[in-house]
Amino acid sequence: MIIALDGPAGSGKSTIAREVAKRLGLRYLDTGAMYRTVTLLALEAGLVPDRIADVGALAATAPLRLEERENDLTRVFVGGREVTDEIRGRLVSQNVSAVSAEPAVRAVLTEKQRQEAVQGNVILEGRDMGTVVVPEADVKVFLTAGIEERARRRQLQLQVQGVWQPLDELIADIAARDAYDSRRALAPLRKAADAVEIDTTGMTIEEVVAAVCALAARKGGESAPTVLVGPAKAPEPPVDPRWGTKWPLCGMVRGPLDTLLYRFLFFFVPEMVRFLYRMEITGAENVPAIGPVVLASNHRSNLDPFFLGVSSPRMIHFMAKAELWSFKPLGWIIEKLGAFPVKRGAADRGAVRRALEVLDAGAVLGLFPEGRRQREKDLGEIQAGVAMFSLREGVTTIPVVMRGTDRVVRDRLPRFSRVRVTFGPAVEVPGDELPRSQRAAVATERLVEAFQVLLSETSGRT
Ligand code: DC
Repeated sequence: MIIALDGPAGSGKSTIAREVAKRLGLRYLDTGAMYRTVTLLALEAGLVPDRIADVGALAATAPLRLEERENDLTRVFVGGREVTDEIRGRLVSQNVSAVSAEPAVRAVLTEKQRQEAVQGNVILEGRDMGTVVVPEADVKVFLTAGIEERARRRQLQLQVQGVWQPLDELIADIAARDAYDSRRALAPLRKAADAVEIDTTGMTIEEVVAAVCALAARKGGESAPTVLVGPAKAPEPPVDPRWGTKWPLCGMVRGPLDTLLYRFLFFFVPEMVRFLYRMEITGAENVPAIGPVVLASNHRSNLDPFFLGVSSPRMIHFMAKAELWSFKPLGWIIEKLGAFPVKRGAADRGAVRRALEVLDAGAVLGLFPEGRRQREKDLGEIQAGVAMFSLREGVTTIPVVMRGTDRVVRDRLPRFSRVRVTFGPAVEVPGDELPRSQRAAVATERLVEAFQVLLSETSGRT
């Protein structure tokens, strides 16, 4: 089975191709990544814009290697150097059309792509798969979507990589690239005569994936329609009436991602801990019973997640430092408790994706926005990335201040000193009244203010 998937920038090709590949057990080839890598190398060698004719030779000798990853962008290497993130940068995006219009570059990369395709069982994604690279493909799909929707998707993809680009800038970039890719003389972006066009505007990923899989299943059967048009609006996700009520025995407020181990421990741990540490928990009613919540807490001790967990009426999915997973049994347990690892000091896309999954499911995400424990200061610098989660639609952000957690262990011995946990009122994040480009900074400022208020209200009471 060979599937050729073409379409303009941001039409959703990569997401759809990866998912279809997973479901049908196919390999996946992101040919845009190949053009992007050659563009990066050409920029570094100073061949763009004046010596583009020399880029073909560079493409022919570059030791390019793509490595598929489940649920993530393809990893790209040149020799031993990884360029996965660099090739998605703005400079590469702005120059890739010019480089990919160069005949010598196309000749080299088309040949590499064909070599991949002849091995079969593959889905190839690009601009000229159905027309030039694999005109013999079993299934050909041409994805389209409105430009604004494509720009939004691209914005989200960049956000996940920790990069912010305003929407109007993205619309302009994509329109320029569309024009260039469609008008070039060689292998322009064009729907093959026998390709099925799917307009994905307003369609969910699942609907598009299902449509492509259905075409694959029908291969050889009756002829397919040539245009499938998606519904005008994505259907609202159903609200499960169970969330928000309490689990019968443990008394924890139900959430869509609750795990058995967490629920089991919630049955007896919180009461015991609250008693031993004479815990004072205030404002827990600020945590809404249903819907996505970010609990953003200050951080003084490794035990903070534990104390926050016993104070919160809902299960918390903590973003925790990846080092905890190096001791396998511990990693296993905290994973079963709903936590997931984050590599600190790096743009960890996997962690961001899991955090967004937690919120999209309508569960509670636990974060320590200072990034690491603070020993001296009351509040460390708040990481700008937290705003990305707070600004997500429908998310309630609750600031939490914990006091006394740094005193429960002294000289490696446990002490049952008092612990106080205060949940603040929800932080109001900016909406349409501000341009998108300013919202993240304002949301961060408001979170800092909220922490300061809570810290001053609780100071001197430890
Ligand atoms: O899919 P993408 O945005 O990563 O692709 C980057 C650029 O590479 C795109 O603007 C045009 C070019 N390209 C191409 O010319 N032919 C392909 N098969 C794939 C990409």
